Amino acid sequence: MARSILHTMGQQLGRRSWAEPWKIKMVEPLRLISRDERQKALVEAGYNTFLLRSEDVYIDLLTDSGTSAMSDRQWAGMMLGDEAYAGSRNFYKLEKAIQDTYGYKHIIPTHQGRGAEHLISQVEIKKGQFVPGNMYFTTTRLHQELAGGTFVDVIIDEAHDAQNEHPFKGNVDLSKLENIIKKEGTDKIAYVSLAGTVNMAGGQPVSMENVKALRTLCDKYAIKIYLDATRMVENAFFIQERELGYKDKTIAQILKEFCSYTDGAWMSAKKDNLVNIGGWLAINDEDLFQELRNLVVVYEGLHTYGGLSGRDLEAMAIGIAESIEDGHVRSRVEQVRYLGQLLEEWGIPAVRPVGGHAIFLDARRFYEHLSQDKFPAQTLAAELYLDSGVRSMERGIASAGRDPKTGDHKYPRLELTRLTIPRRVYTQAHMDVVAESVNAVYENRNNSRGLKMVFEPKYLRFFQARYESL
Ligand SMILES: Cc1ncc(COP(=O)(O)O)c(C=O)c1O
Repeated sequence: MARSILHTMGQQLGRRSWAEPWKIKMVEPLRLISRDERQKALVEAGYNTFLLRSEDVYIDLLTDSGTSAMSDRQWAGMMLGDEAYAGSRNFYKLEKAIQDTYGYKHIIPTHQGRGAEHLISQVEIKKGQFVPGNMYFTTTRLHQELAGGTFVDVIIDEAHDAQNEHPFKGNVDLSKLENIIKKEGTDKIAYVSLAGTVNMAGGQPVSMENVKALRTLCDKYAIKIYLDATRMVENAFFIQERELGYKDKTIAQILKEFCSYTDGAWMSAKKDNLVNIGGWLAINDEDLFQELRNLVVVYEGLHTYGGLSGRDLEAMAIGIAESIEDGHVRSRVEQVRYLGQLLEEWGIPAVRPVGGHAIFLDARRFYEHLSQDKFPAQTLAAELYLDSGVRSMERGIASAGRDPKTGDHKYPRLELTRLTIPRRVYTQAHMDVVAESVNAVYENRNNSRGLKMVFEPKYLRFFQARYESL
């Protein structure tokens, strides 16, 4: 018999293959509309992938937010929803799950992450204060600004360089932080806003060593640290894989240790926690908790439901337990990496190293002939959709918004198009289709002329802005 020339992915990479730790029980059909129909849909959406109808999308890599597949256990849990206005038993189960897993004392549910960002910003930021953090996130920074604060980026310089291979590009630069504390004075610092696997940097992790040192520095000046725990499980995976002394620790142990160096956290449960909607705020300080518990009633709902139904709380509690299983986290990150390896092999520019939740295509190097004010990352998202019906998201100049003082664009160094992989939804075959489409768009890159923004909303413009082709 002739020797096979086909190899599994594991064989190609010189190791044994991995597989997802689940099997599929229910399927949702996908539809691929024609190129002409995609062209029409794109123009109608003003070249903004957020404005496309989902039924016109083939493989949806817009976001990993609220797009995960729930497990049979979570769906079964939904039937146990206790829809009482107050004191639902699902709340107490969720409260215990967060306390046990993340280690914080007090929990407040919110309808999603930005609900929690709003509450913490209103309570902890005084007008004129600064909020240093490891790179901004769109909704987080906006809530900090609306509360009267000014976000200051104190991430290490390597994070702004798409090609730098630093293993923990999410780390805080402690000297940048100390400089701002000394320059402005402790009273002018609201808190440190720390994010796990920094989204805007390409899903890049923070090391345990860095958060420990950050705790020591903040203790010196009596400054609090609040954690954006949205993708902390993925951060824990990178610590386990890359940091000395953590190889034999479980994801659960690493996660809890990391959180122990912080004073509280906000969470978009739509990511790590494997639910389609939900969020929470966690805090150790008793007095602050009382204040936040009072405020949640104004904006979200009573403190035992926070804008969610009992069944949502139940699904979240079960999702938290599933999210910290080592096999789950590994297959999630390895799937992202698989797509990244294909693109790297073909010389397509993307942020290195590959992060936890997405591939971030480097639109600057993809379209070297397009200046940043022609929205290269948005252009790439539009071209990908046109080529194959794959939906991605802009993470560049449009997402960065305008400087509130000068009114000019913010011109971030990173101009990226994000291919975000939902958890437990797509297979390796889908990743192959996506990779081939990115390659086709890359080969045709010199024909792209960029975009002009023709409608610009005041807040978080990237969601609803409209463009025309140049
Ligand atoms: C890092 C990070 N923080 C906060 C949020 C806001 O959460 P939500 O979309 O649930 O309001 C997101 C959502 O994308 C996020 O990625």
